[in-house]
Amino acid sequence: MKRVFSGVQPTGNIHIGNYLGALKQFVELQDENNCIYCIVDLHSITLPQDPKVLRKNILDVAALYLAVGLDPKKSIIFVQSMVPGHTELSWILTCNSYTGELSRMTQFKQKSRDSESAPTGLFTYPILMAADILLYDTDVVPVGNDQKQHIEITRDLAERINNKYGKTFVVPDGRFLKEGARIMSLDDPTSKMSKSAENIHSRISLLDDANKIKKSIMRATTDSEGTIRFDMENKPGISNLLNIYSAFSGMKVPDIEKKYEGLGYGDFKKDLVEVTVDAILPIQQRYNEIRESEELITILKDGAEKANAISEKTISRVKHKFGLGL
Ligand code: TYM
Repeated sequence: MKRVFSGVQPTGNIHIGNYLGALKQFVELQDENNCIYCIVDLHSITLPQDPKVLRKNILDVAALYLAVGLDPKKSIIFVQSMVPGHTELSWILTCNSYTGELSRMTQFKQKSRDSESAPTGLFTYPILMAADILLYDTDVVPVGNDQKQHIEITRDLAERINNKYGKTFVVPDGRFLKEGARIMSLDDPTSKMSKSAENIHSRISLLDDANKIKKSIMRATTDSEGTIRFDMENKPGISNLLNIYSAFSGMKVPDIEKKYEGLGYGDFKKDLVEVTVDAILPIQQRYNEIRESEELITILKDGAEKANAISEKTISRVKHKFGLGL
């Protein structure tokens, strides 16, 4: 059995990009692997958060994890800040990373916008992510495409330390889905769908009602050609909608193109609304049942205990390799 680890930031507005790129994989993997899924609250404070909202968002993500089908009997589900090993290992990795490699991270460049007052945590963010992954001897990391660079730096750090101190870490692989790996924004299909974009119609959040979903899809940017054909370069809008249709329905893109041959964008979009609502409504129903339950807290406490037991072993192994402590 392989060890699988991944995480989602509790920054609100969890959307279909997060679902189709990551959460869907989490569920697929849990039957055949040792899975650990984390709510990475320490990552979320790399940008300012309102404490009350953060606490609510943590429980929202936990409830969504369960609502999409994660089963605490099969997967460990926990909150990152409840396991001290993450920050401990992060420091050890920090001392083995280079400022040059961190400066090349595109997410840092985008989020810091070259500002001198960008939080240092934003700069060292990928190291904390590497710590998350390496702490559990992870083999596989299911994520969306936007995390590719972060997985690369994790592998580099693991290999660098293994070369210097002898085999210390498992070198992990990223796992990316074909259709869901990069869901684009509905109003600007050249940038990825994001939790923080100002226009709410640029994304479909997992907790959006059917009316909102309909509005967002019907006004999604397409092109003037009018044929339903996959061509990411020249027709990014319709190609993105085809990807979403495919990922939700399980139909292959060429089969969807055939189904809509001769039909217009309006017809296709109407059906896409149905496909999306059908996929999301059952998730919302489960979410509403779970969100306020005491069980949610018990699951997270139990998950933290299990994660901590694994983490402590790795930390003591790493400290020994580095000559730290007694
Ligand atoms: P986060 O919270 O931004 O996103 C959670 C997951 O959703 C994927 N994702 C997308 N996939 C497809 N299309 C999109 N438009 C889209 N937007 C987001 C992300 O790739 C991610 O898999 N750094 C991570 C959290 C993290 C982590 C980890 C992940 C911290 N430590 C360790 C894996 C392993 C992040 O910010 O994800």
